[in-house]
Amino acid sequence: MDKIYVTGGTPLNGTITISGSKNAALPLMATSLLTADTITLSNVPHIADISTMAHLLLQHGTNLLIDASGGNGGHLGGVIQLTSDNINNIEAPYDLVRKMRASVLVLGPLLARFGKARVSLPGGCAIGTRPIDMHLKALTELGAVIELTEGYIDAHVPGGKLTGTDIHFGKISVGATENALMAATLATGTTTIHNAAKEPEITDLANCLVSMGANIDGIGTHTLTINGVESLHGTHYKVICDRIEAGTFMMAAAATRGTLTLEEVDLDVMTATIELLKDIGVHISTPADNTLKVDAHNATLSPKNVSTEAYPGFATDLQAQYMALMLTIDGSCIIEETIFENRFMHVAELSRMGADILIEGYKATVHGGKPLKNAELMATDLRASVCLVIAALAAQGDSVINRMYHIDRGYERIEEKLAKCGAKIRRAR
Ligand code: UD1
Repeated sequence: MDKIYVTGGTPLNGTITISGSKNAALPLMATSLLTADTITLSNVPHIADISTMAHLLLQHGTNLLIDASGGNGGHLGGVIQLTSDNINNIEAPYDLVRKMRASVLVLGPLLARFGKARVSLPGGCAIGTRPIDMHLKALTELGAVIELTEGYIDAHVPGGKLTGTDIHFGKISVGATENALMAATLATGTTTIHNAAKEPEITDLANCLVSMGANIDGIGTHTLTINGVESLHGTHYKVICDRIEAGTFMMAAAATRGTLTLEEVDLDVMTATIELLKDIGVHISTPADNTLKVDAHNATLSPKNVSTEAYPGFATDLQAQYMALMLTIDGSCIIEETIFENRFMHVAELSRMGADILIEGYKATVHGGKPLKNAELMATDLRASVCLVIAALAAQGDSVINRMYHIDRGYERIEEKLAKCGAKIRRAR
């Protein structure tokens, strides 16, 4: 099992190209199940979750062609061609779904096009129970009949075709919105999704579906109206930048008091992170199109309270990284997690580095400014793990982070990108 070795104490300095978004690419790959034509996606990140989705689609019968060079010297990430003209298996097995919860995104498209699907229940998850009741409720409202048997979701659509309806989500769910949106594109009549998530990855999905012939109004808002169409066709689509990867490197630059230039960033989707870091004293500029410069060299930073929120608020996927940054700043602040019920798994590991953090329910009070000590650390989930990398980069001495596979799920060659900017970091067994 790979580990990451970090010798901390060096400010990051250099330029990093941001990859395509994991959370956008996963549902975009699932759209291939909605059509027999070829979907060509570019700027797809080379990460483990994309391989898991590729395996899932392969075993459904999708044909995949992967050009890892991206057709552009590797600069823009990989190109994947997906053709689902011969789907011969509508089951998503436990082995793949347990690896990656986003596997459940095949449910809506399979039901919409084939009228049936069998998808394993995802089971527990390190950051909370993460139920899928909202996905199932929306698909039931669209006319699917769903039974839960032996750990599987067994679903079929009497008559074969979903029917448009009004869906009211009680809270914001990214995944449930994506499943409902994909399913509604091929339903008969009109579907309105109220209280839909409007994360940039949902907008990316909706734009891709429109380029496939779907009829969707209200893109980028909390109300999506979908007029179902008879069929969808192929498309070429470029995945948006990974705003969480960009935000992670912004926190790493600030935590090491370094200077990083991030390229291939869609600045519009970065507002919450940019404003937060500016507020604490980091200098942020945009020297060129799609380029963000984060400069914390010689900066005097001050802590600031933050609550995670649905987009456009501060992303839960950056909460752990922000906590690592707060540990490097003199003074106290409160970090509130409002999206997931158990997303402070990194705190126990950070404490082993000497961090002073008090958790009360959904709130963590961080007393920063005390020197972080090197330690042997255990990655527990994707974002918690990368927070440990940031803390180790800011600490003095040699740290080891075990269970690198958590980071590989969502970060493309993170150690190479950081090492290029002066970090003393390497991967080994
Ligand atoms: C997606 C992202 C994840 C991000 C999260 C919140 C992907 C692949 N993952 O996850 O990185 O942290 O959005 O921005 O895009 N909930 C229910 N019932 C449901 C569905 C969700 O109660 O049926 C709850 C969840 O437990 C959680 C909240 O709703 O408390 C938000 O979850 P959701 O937006 O659905 O997250 P994911 O789509 O799983």
